[in-house]
Amino acid sequence: MNGTSQIVYLNGHFLPLAQAHVSVLDRGFIFGDGVYEVIPAYSRRAFRLDEHLRRLQHSLDGIRLANPHTNAEWADLIRELIARNTGEDQYLYLHLTRGVALRDHAFPQGVAPTVFMMSTPLVPPPREWCETGVAAVSAIDNRWDRCDIKAIALLPNVLLRQLAVDHGAVETVLFRDGILTEGAASNIFAVENGVILAPPKDNHMLPGITYDLVLELAEAHGIPCEIGRYGEARIRAADELWLTSSTKEILPITRLDDRPVGSGRPGPVFRKMHALYQEYKTQVMRASA
Ligand code: PDD
Repeated sequence: MNGTSQIVYLNGHFLPLAQAHVSVLDRGFIFGDGVYEVIPAYSRRAFRLDEHLRRLQHSLDGIRLANPHTNAEWADLIRELIARNTGEDQYLYLHLTRGVALRDHAFPQGVAPTVFMMSTPLVPPPREWCETGVAAVSAIDNRWDRCDIKAIALLPNVLLRQLAVDHGAVETVLFRDGILTEGAASNIFAVENGVILAPPKDNHMLPGITYDLVLELAEAHGIPCEIGRYGEARIRAADELWLTSSTKEILPITRLDDRPVGSGRPGPVFRKMHALYQEYKTQVMRASA
């Protein structure tokens, strides 16, 4: 798909990407004052939509911005956005800001939010990433204290993720005060003696939709899990490390800071979880067809 055929949604209208414009006074542009969601759509159906809309509400509440739509309205808009774009699998981006107003840090009164949505073809990660794993680097998590809000102000995440790219890696694993939080754009799991280790969903990480699904699948299939605060030494010594996100699904991290993780190959618990995830996706899509 190129920019000319892509149809986006902006403030009540579906229109070609090239015709979608926002004011330079938009508070998203001026302050990064807004929140977003990324929702995968498989076979033209939004995946885990209720969960994504619940998290959107949490983010909006976190920045004290009223939700302009009911969930039923969001579902209709999203259905239409998918229908108007090409690709069986799409990745939907929803973006809300506190609207357009003369620059002043405090909230403007009586201003409508800016609502923008776009769809991009969802390209799965390269197959070899699942088969051989990906490299990651680590860094100190220097973000703010409300990482549970999916804020559009992503400068720290941008800088942290670029660190990975600069080192030929795929993700940056973050440690706050020596404790694992998440990745620059993903959640991180470890495996130790067959047990999945996951950080708690607190204000230091984004409550990932894929994170929840991984824990649900583990519970349903009797794979032991432990939620806790894990220090750097324990994570580096883990048998397996994974990253999860809506666009990357589940990927094995097989090198961290140029050292092998466990055997240096995707582990058995990863392979099991990856298969369960794919199976779940197929079942859900079939059931809603
Ligand atoms: N990011 N943590 C951070 C900081 C993220 O940016 C993301 C996803 C996740 C995983 O959440 P989920 O499983 O709900 O996608 C965790 C999206 C994909 C993005 O910003 O493009």
